Amino acid sequence: MKVLVIHGPNLNLLGIRETGIYGTKTLEEINNEISILGTELGISVRTIQLNSEGDILDVIQKSDYDALIINPAAYTHTSIAIRDAIAAVNKPAIEVHLSNIHKREEYRKKSYIAEVAVGQISGFGHESYLLALRAVKNLISK
Ligand code: DQA
Repeated sequence: MKVLVIHGPNLNLLGIRETGIYGTKTLEEINNEISILGTELGISVRTIQLNSEGDILDVIQKSDYDALIINPAAYTHTSIAIRDAIAAVNKPAIEVHLSNIHKREEYRKKSYIAEVAVGQISGFGHESYLLALRAVKNLISK
């Protein structure tokens, strides 16, 4: 089972970016935890961080994977293009957020991704990714 994890814009700055909201772990540390859990669950995980919308579309369209875990970051609230790419490839996708987007500014409550995702995990800090990986494992094993 191959799972692709996409981290969207500005998530390369985790660890120094608004740590009160996003925590102090760096992206590298989070990716390590994802990779350790992946090994434990028998999932081959590839993680990638991309700042540009077009690059995210290319990776969604062209990569080889069975399921997608995506934190589209700010594009969550703006990108019909990412929403359409996920719908087009027709593979299970889980939307992830470190913060609880429903508890923050009004403009963060709208997700264009939610309607094409199997589900959304939001508000558990870096654990959101680990919960998503466990969810994916259960989904694909069914
Ligand atoms: C985020 C929430 C988004 O609203 C924000 O733009 C991000 C990160 C999160 O993981 O909590 O960059 O996706």
